[in-house]
Amino acid sequence: MQTLIVELAERSYPIYIGAGLLARPELFNRHLAGQQVLVVTNTVVGPWYLEKVMDAIEAPSKAELVLPDGESYKTLATVERIFDRLLEKRFSRNATLVALGGGVIGDLVGFAAACYQRGIAFIQVPTTLLAQVDSSVGGKTGVNHPLGKNMIGAFYQPRCVIADTQALDTLPDRELRAGLAEVIKYGLIADAAFFAWLEENMAKLLNRDAQALAYAIERSCRIKAEVVGADERESGLRAILNFGHTFGHAIEAATGYGRYLHGEAVAIGMCLAAELSRRLGLIGLAQVERIVALIERAGLPILPPALDSEQWLAWMAVDKKNLDGKLRLILLETLGRAALPQPVPGEILKATLDEYRRTFC
Ligand code: NAD
Ligand code: GLY
Repeated sequence: MQTLIVELAERSYPIYIGAGLLARPELFNRHLAGQQVLVVTNTVVGPWYLEKVMDAIEAPSKAELVLPDGESYKTLATVERIFDRLLEKRFSRNATLVALGGGVIGDLVGFAAACYQRGIAFIQVPTTLLAQVDSSVGGKTGVNHPLGKNMIGAFYQPRCVIADTQALDTLPDRELRAGLAEVIKYGLIADAAFFAWLEENMAKLLNRDAQALAYAIERSCRIKAEVVGADERESGLRAILNFGHTFGHAIEAATGYGRYLHGEAVAIGMCLAAELSRRLGLIGLAQVERIVALIERAGLPILPPALDSEQWLAWMAVDKKNLDGKLRLILLETLGRAALPQPVPGEILKATLDEYRRTFC
């Protein structure tokens, strides 16, 4: 097992990464705030792993809640169901919530933990690759609003993250590939050597080679932990973790949250952001081609949906990086280093959106 620490002074916490961790009671029990624990999962993950987690947790008062599966349930109404359960059980301020599932469950449960009695302890048990390398780490929690993704939320850190790599055995291939998009992101924004390692090892990752996956998760979490440790509330550096995401969120929203998985939309978004970086003179065509090629080799889409640039700009206007209503984007300074969010000349953005399909597809 690898243990990384997210360094946030009194809110610091460990990320445990390894095979078989769901069967390690001590990893859960040392982080419980008191004797009451509610484990929240969904109808897909529950049948696989809920019993194991319930068995591992040693607390006199344990309860479970199985929510419906899917991004469409990442809503305030679902958070209310968590509050209902906590209140029915008369759980108090030293109760602990456990989020067992992918990013949807982690974001929902973390937000419920941030709000219930003004904040109770929670533990992240991510079961998708995307959640293990990204959403479970760093304390962004929240839900969607019909007018914008992740628009309601809180920064709220877990007590620990328990990433059992064996849980990925049951993950569908398409979900694994979606997680690889975020893994590739870390190479692009912060670590050219890791990007090159991904070029060498993509076939192993797609074949679920345990050692390669463990390394990719560990490297990704290390980069994320460093960025979050430096800028927990995204006043600067943390925004680089959103590379490709402004395009990606627009793709998800414009296509009605369902046609593309989050990681797939981010994959296309990273291609567009790389091409935009090229048009602004930051990186060369050879680098963009390497990026697009790796994303394609990961089995991820590189072709954006056919939106016109007015539609793109309307969807991209709903983004938390925007300030005073002005669009700001993350660009690559080079392969392996991202720049802080910045405004981009409208005509270059428009040309990128209009011409990308012709250049790369
Ligand atoms: P998800 O939670 O919907 O999980 C994907 C699918 O896989 C679901 O059907 C789920 O039930 C299923 N699943 C989960 N674990 C499984 C397993 N081990 N075996 C079989 N099936 C399993 O999606 P996701 O990709 O994990 O997360 C996407 C969400 O995360 C989005 O809502 C996104 O906004 C959010 N996110 C948050 C952050 C953050 O920093 N908080 C970062 C990135 C993404
Ligand atoms: N996923 C982006 C962040 O955690 O900041």
